[in-house]
Amino acid sequence: MTETYADHPYLQGNYAPLRMESDLNDLIVEGEIPKDLYGSYYRNGPDPQFPPMGGNYHWFGGDGMIHAFHFENGKVSYKNRWIQTSKWKQERKAGKSLVNLLNPMEPDPLWNPEGEDGTANTSIIFHGDKLLALEEGHPPFEIDPFTLKSIGSHNYEGKLLSPMTAHPKIDPLTGEMFAFSYGFGDNKMTYFVVDADGKLTHYSEFTTPYSSMVHDFIVTSQHVIFPVFPLVIDLEQAMMGNAPIAWDGKRPSYIGIMPRDGSVEDIKWIEDDPCYVFHAMNAYTEGDKIVADMMQFEEAPLFPHVDGSAPDPKKAEARLNRWEIDLSSNSGKISKNFLDDDLGEFPRLDERFSMLNYRHGFYASRIGDPSGISWNAIAHHDHRTGNKKFFVVDKEDEVGEPIFVPTSGDAEEGNGFLITLAYKGKENRSDLLIFNAMDVESGPIATAHLPHRVPYGFHGNWRQGEQT
Ligand SMILES: [Fe+2]
Repeated sequence: MTETYADHPYLQGNYAPLRMESDLNDLIVEGEIPKDLYGSYYRNGPDPQFPPMGGNYHWFGGDGMIHAFHFENGKVSYKNRWIQTSKWKQERKAGKSLVNLLNPMEPDPLWNPEGEDGTANTSIIFHGDKLLALEEGHPPFEIDPFTLKSIGSHNYEGKLLSPMTAHPKIDPLTGEMFAFSYGFGDNKMTYFVVDADGKLTHYSEFTTPYSSMVHDFIVTSQHVIFPVFPLVIDLEQAMMGNAPIAWDGKRPSYIGIMPRDGSVEDIKWIEDDPCYVFHAMNAYTEGDKIVADMMQFEEAPLFPHVDGSAPDPKKAEARLNRWEIDLSSNSGKISKNFLDDDLGEFPRLDERFSMLNYRHGFYASRIGDPSGISWNAIAHHDHRTGNKKFFVVDKEDEVGEPIFVPTSGDAEEGNGFLITLAYKGKENRSDLLIFNAMDVESGPIATAHLPHRVPYGFHGNWRQGEQT
């Protein structure tokens, strides 16, 4: 009997894999694609090639697939490809799933772990003249930016001795990329820096208070901050057949603060109340204060509690919260203030102001109570005025992460476009929406139609076209 995709919430509806690769020239566009948009938007997400072994699936564990939209001369074309990791190639040959990399306790006898390079399914970034698919358990995976052909695992000439998570930060002033990784079941983390030319210039390891799934971190022009929240990794639990990653709300969070010109020996850990943050919008240092804008959950979603119970849906939801850490008081307290009553995720900014005092933030938001939909609006938060503007898509439609592209390199902050994918529920296909970032409430200025759907995924980024 042919195996089918299990009756799993993250394999149904628009979470179900597309399982198709395609090339579409000149998408049909409603409105006008700005001529200023010259370059490519890449979006990564899971697209499991085969039904999972024994129905054992997690949304974070599917094979990475890149959806690429290239903009030039007011037109947009589309291409999507799977990322051909070792797992993908072995499973293609076998014609079935061989392993669950999030819980690889009982792989198929055909599975060969040698050269295992992950699923590469979480984000994608262009840095050091390389397009790199990212996923937090492995080093980056290089892809050709034009053909999307898989090139292979990239370890910076052997200098990267750890994985790299999907949320490195690029300093807009120096072009340096700051990154980290966390150990799976040991309380080790690594911190490293890659210069603008793609050379790894610093690598160090340090110990954290406990082993945790650390999805994102924070970098300002003066500090690097490692947040350890109680989404605990416990391999002993995994050996007993329990979840290896689980929420333990009895533990405190620890926020590790390191001066950027210091070293990991200088990290000071602040003990704080338990909470969870998948994504930070941005952060900056001003005098003796660090300001960090965080999409904060009361408890982590998508993973069970340590006692095996499910997350409380009312606590496992995020709102934008401004943290202020006073470095002079030694109080160890972080002042926290919610900036929005509505739920939000996938926060972004005009990345030319990353790590700096900034004004404009953008995210996917949930307005009202759209049944069965997580994110039905694109939101713009103005940190100077405190105002939020938003655009709600049609009922049954859902948006993803908005990415920002400036009209030009020297345009004023926020002067540019937001690009996001939207799933059209009634039509079971997707659109690419382009907004004027300073006027989201007027709706998209252009909509490019795809004949098929792009499954819900995670993160994307922009590669600016090269002027010749
Ligand atoms: Fe993420």
